[in-house]
Amino acid sequence: MKFKVINGPNLNFLGIREPDIYGQLTLADINDKIATFAKENDHEASFFQSNSEGEIIDAIQAAHHENFDGIIINPGAYTHYSYAIHDALKSVTPPAVEIHLSAVHTREEFRKISVTAPACVGQISGFGADGYILGMIALERRQ
Ligand code: DQA
Repeated sequence: MKFKVINGPNLNFLGIREPDIYGQLTLADINDKIATFAKENDHEASFFQSNSEGEIIDAIQAAHHENFDGIIINPGAYTHYSYAIHDALKSVTPPAVEIHLSAVHTREEFRKISVTAPACVGQISGFGADGYILGMIALERRQ
């Protein structure tokens, strides 16, 4: 399968950003883990990160045009208020899984609301970098 892995705002700061919550791994470290898993399982993974909502929407639409089989998305804080990302995920053919490194439901009230998860086939939260791999497994088994 061909997966597009999309990370939203501030996730380029992993490793620096609140390591007690988000861990010590950088986004490059996480992407390496995902790429290794993908290779071992005959999948392809391509990676995109942006701090801008419009660029994330463009990446979701590109995944459609480029015939990706699935989207693994951590929308960062956009999770909690971006109806535009919700609409983009709803518009495209590839199914998406929403990932959160942290256990968002155990944190501040505003993090318990996801406006993007209803446009995804499921949400995985609280398993750190493994969440991205669990998302790929979930989409693989759904096929
Ligand atoms: C996050 C959780 C969000 O609430 C936060 O804004 C992030 C990261 C996570 O991966 O745990 O940027 O999506």
